Amino acid sequence: MTQTFGQRRILLGVTGGIAAFKAAELCRLLVKAEIAVDVVMTEAATRFIGSVTMQALSGRPVHTNLWDSAVGNGMGHIDLSRSADLVVVAPASADFLAKLALGAADDLLSTLCLARDCPLMVAPAMNRQMWEHPATQRNIARLREDGAVVLGPDSGSQACGETGMGRMTEPEALCEQILGWFEPRILDGVRVVLTAGPTFERIDAVRGITNLSSGRMGHALARSLRDAGAKVTMVSGPTALTPPPGIDTIDVVSAADMLAAVEARLTECDIFIGVAAVADYTPLHPQEQKLKKDARILAIELAPTVDILANVASRANPPFCVGFAAESERLDEFAEAKRRRKNVPLLAANLAQQSMGTEDSEIVLFDDSGRQVLPRAPKSEQARRLVTHIARLYSAAR
Ligand code: C5P
Repeated sequence: MTQTFGQRRILLGVTGGIAAFKAAELCRLLVKAEIAVDVVMTEAATRFIGSVTMQALSGRPVHTNLWDSAVGNGMGHIDLSRSADLVVVAPASADFLAKLALGAADDLLSTLCLARDCPLMVAPAMNRQMWEHPATQRNIARLREDGAVVLGPDSGSQACGETGMGRMTEPEALCEQILGWFEPRILDGVRVVLTAGPTFERIDAVRGITNLSSGRMGHALARSLRDAGAKVTMVSGPTALTPPPGIDTIDVVSAADMLAAVEARLTECDIFIGVAAVADYTPLHPQEQKLKKDARILAIELAPTVDILANVASRANPPFCVGFAAESERLDEFAEAKRRRKNVPLLAANLAQQSMGTEDSEIVLFDDSGRQVLPRAPKSEQARRLVTHIARLYSAAR
């Protein structure tokens, strides 16, 4: 496969570990996303997965040997890393991370990692004890200090039969974060807390009050914020979605839990975004046991919940606050009134019947300069547009 002009190029390093087989899928996904992938394998990696597999999937020669004169003019390490936009090592074994932290260069991949001027991402994969060992943690901390981006690892069952931290992040999640990294870093290092999904207010042991929010908009926004370089904490009510990779997700159930989780994180928050469809009322006396039915009318007393967004926005030195509003009628009038009442600089509004639980939405933005329509599009696209708007207002407000 030849490289087309302007195409992104990734140098994918594969080191020796059981997870090396997942590098094949990662390579396939990157190539499918039209990235040119040059694979470099350590000698140990070739014992776990054949270089022919990686060659077939990348459509390019695979490099394994520092002394291979076939690479360019004999200065293969310089050539391979110089033309890359990004070096990704997946899986990165404990041994290879130690070498990187030390700056060792005793094989082709470690030499390339040293002789590069592009960023480095590593996806650690190892046994739980190896991951937890102070030496590995020291190496990871050192690599972070040196500017490397560490993806994962995840927790789960391991090839050795144990369960714990150290599983390589799945290829889909790695690919998502790698592709996201190519987005403009318009919120680099900015700390964002956002709420997402519905809340669930308990009536009794098996029943509760919730709403139609799927959490899709909050999740899409969290992903776009992450891709823009923000450090994202998402406080999410119950949804059927898998938490986005690279985001600190805190699962909560009720409006009160959500408020507590948000408050606990406000000291480290530059932007707060209330995407969640928070219950406005909660049962005053939730029952421990399941209520039994009889022929009488049942009245459940409801108490208003705290408005999390208004609460955050009314503090001294509040973060830059963004609200959402799902209205069923008179969108402009209700949304602008809500923006003023909650004292937020930006409010994203839509018609509830056309947005809650759906794949796409139309959004109308209200801020001090007026009203702007984001025409109907998938929520992922709306999230990207919204992040651009937020970044512009946030940097102007600072
Ligand atoms: O007043 P309304 O519920 O329509 O306001 C919607 C906005 O306020 C959303 O940003 C939502 O996340 C936030 N909100 C909140 N806490 C509540 C109710 C709403 O943060 N209890």
